[in-house]
Amino acid sequence: MIKLTAERLKSENDSYESARAHAEALDQQLGLQVEKIEAQLLERARLKMPDGSHKTWGQGLHDGNQTWVGLSHQTLQTPYNELRVLCEYLKPAPGSTMVDLGAGYGRLGLVLSVLFPEVNFLGLEYVGERVKEGQRVLSENGCHLSQLIEEDLTSVEFHLPQAEYYFLYDYGTLAHIRHTLEQLEEMAKSKKFKVIARGKGSRSLIQNEHPWLSQVHSPQHEEHYSIYSMSFDL
Ligand SMILES: C[S@@+](CC[C@H](N)C(=O)[O-])C[C@H]1O[C@@H](n2cnc3c(N)ncnc32)[C@H](O)[C@@H]1O
Repeated sequence: MIKLTAERLKSENDSYESARAHAEALDQQLGLQVEKIEAQLLERARLKMPDGSHKTWGQGLHDGNQTWVGLSHQTLQTPYNELRVLCEYLKPAPGSTMVDLGAGYGRLGLVLSVLFPEVNFLGLEYVGERVKEGQRVLSENGCHLSQLIEEDLTSVEFHLPQAEYYFLYDYGTLAHIRHTLEQLEEMAKSKKFKVIARGKGSRSLIQNEHPWLSQVHSPQHEEHYSIYSMSFDL
């Protein structure tokens, strides 16, 4: 098992293929057992729904939550290189907090711990098996300010924690993402923050239903994600 460094977060070049291949290799070098855990989840899903697909297995296994069981592992997660570029652009201040809404194995926490070790990471993830494995690797890498927690973002008891940054990569069904965006809108009445949305679902919902996120600053659109900034400088 290797120790994660800033240099190791870089893929050979900026192409998406290279970033995905690099991320897969880095997961293995870090001992993050994504393949094994996803294969176990898929086996359970197939037993329950032999005719299902990655569009239905997660919801069938996890009480209607779109956990993307059976999806390609590198589509499920954001490549390390992309997270590196994003964090280097955001330059989060020491003491600020970045929340990953639907955090998978907590890759963002690993990236932050290397590049911005004084920034708090809070990853919220439904699938317990992903959380347990991510926690193990975060702790082995000494990510003291990184927390990965099992949480259902759609539960009525769940309240969004306060943060300066929210990262949201198509975590669930459109109805679930819509619910989270409404919570963010409510929170925005008393606090300023940035939202980084990745994936088609989240970006189109924001564009069509949440103009408040683009009112103060024009969003910055990158190939795979968009950054929406309310007026604040950190
Ligand atoms: C597309 S993945 C993104 C993972 C990670 N944020 C990344 O970018 O690498 C979305 C994650 O959201 C999780 N998820 C789905 N529904 C959820 C819910 N209701 N509460 C918390 N997490 C959820 C899924 O299990 C999945 O791991």
